[in-house]
Amino acid sequence: MPVLTNIGILYTCAYEGGQAEAHPIKNAAIVWEKDKIEWVGRETDLPDQYQHEEAVDANGGMVIPGLVECHTHLAFGGWRADEYELRSLGRPYIEIAKAGGGILSTVRATRAASEDELVEKSLGHLQEMKKLGITTVECKSGYGLNKDDEIKLLNVYRRLDVMQPLDIISTFLGAHMVPPEYADKRADYITLLIKEMIPYVADNQLAQFCDIFIEETAFTIDEAYTILSNALDYGLMLKLHVDQLSAGGGAELAAELGAVSADHLEYVSEKGILSMANTGVVAVSLPLASFYLRQPAIPARKLIEAGVDVAVSTDFNPGSAPSYHLPYAMTLACTLQHMSPAEVLKGATINAAKALSMHGDIGSLEAGKRADFAIIDAPSVNQWLYNFRGNQCTAVWKDGIQIV
Ligand code: NIG
Ligand code: FE
Repeated sequence: MPVLTNIGILYTCAYEGGQAEAHPIKNAAIVWEKDKIEWVGRETDLPDQYQHEEAVDANGGMVIPGLVECHTHLAFGGWRADEYELRSLGRPYIEIAKAGGGILSTVRATRAASEDELVEKSLGHLQEMKKLGITTVECKSGYGLNKDDEIKLLNVYRRLDVMQPLDIISTFLGAHMVPPEYADKRADYITLLIKEMIPYVADNQLAQFCDIFIEETAFTIDEAYTILSNALDYGLMLKLHVDQLSAGGGAELAAELGAVSADHLEYVSEKGILSMANTGVVAVSLPLASFYLRQPAIPARKLIEAGVDVAVSTDFNPGSAPSYHLPYAMTLACTLQHMSPAEVLKGATINAAKALSMHGDIGSLEAGKRADFAIIDAPSVNQWLYNFRGNQCTAVWKDGIQIV
């Protein structure tokens, strides 16, 4: 039974106490048995029974729960650096999308890529994410937009889950946009989603969640209601991309349908905030997307004050958020979203786990939970997220096994 000792400070990130309470313990120790945590506390309080177990030295570092990345579009063909140049010079994201670029340009590249090519490229990203202290990654489809290519993406995630140590949680995002071949018959695409794609994904357990993009260029509230109600009937949990580029009543719909999370929310309404608070929908903030698209930040303070749990994630994708660097997103969340580093740490651990409905199992360092944790070379969470450096993570354990 290994014991990690000589921990300068450990943040348990237990859910209790609200967003700002990260539960720091100075001079801590952590004991685990196989993949589960046995004991966490001050090293001086280490029970006798663990005194002679194999000790691992944390060298005075900071220990946090393995970071939970709860919103990515991990597998995609190509990149869109040419669009980034245009956007940098002032061309709006939505205008590029309306001209057939944006998501649809990645759909073309993803359809052209083989499953093996997508596995190899995504595996490279996961290997880098692991080094940052990330131990769980949610991955969306949504760049296939036909049955075969959506299934190809979900198969990529299924393969990645077994070939590397990070946990992969898959989300079906066939309702990311209406593909060009259905531009004049969108009702037929919705029928395809409802009658064929969602049943296939659910029956073959290819995803746990169903997601949708509600926006002028994507789906309407009424269409979303139809698609998501169907997904619920098939036992999928719900996530929604809402209120990102304009206010659209998406947060209210997420609450009405009992979604696990509503993501983006830069333009969430007061009513949307209240309805999320009343129904326990997690707000997933994506500061890299707000930053790259020059959108106003999510009103995190209003959400927190209303009692909504705020998670922090990258939204890693080739368009709006071309970086998988979660600690960078966390620093942006402090600065742009007016969240304290401790609030952000809970946002990327226990609240992100809640956004995956996995908070009973991961996201905090408590007895009985999975032994997923990382050592960070910093004296406190404040110093870590303030003095931003390339990577301050020095070691990572996933399910009790050291992977970095
Ligand atoms: O989460 N909002 C919709 N979808 C992605 C963007 C995808 C892209 O630009 O390729 C997002 O921001
Ligand atoms: Fe997204």
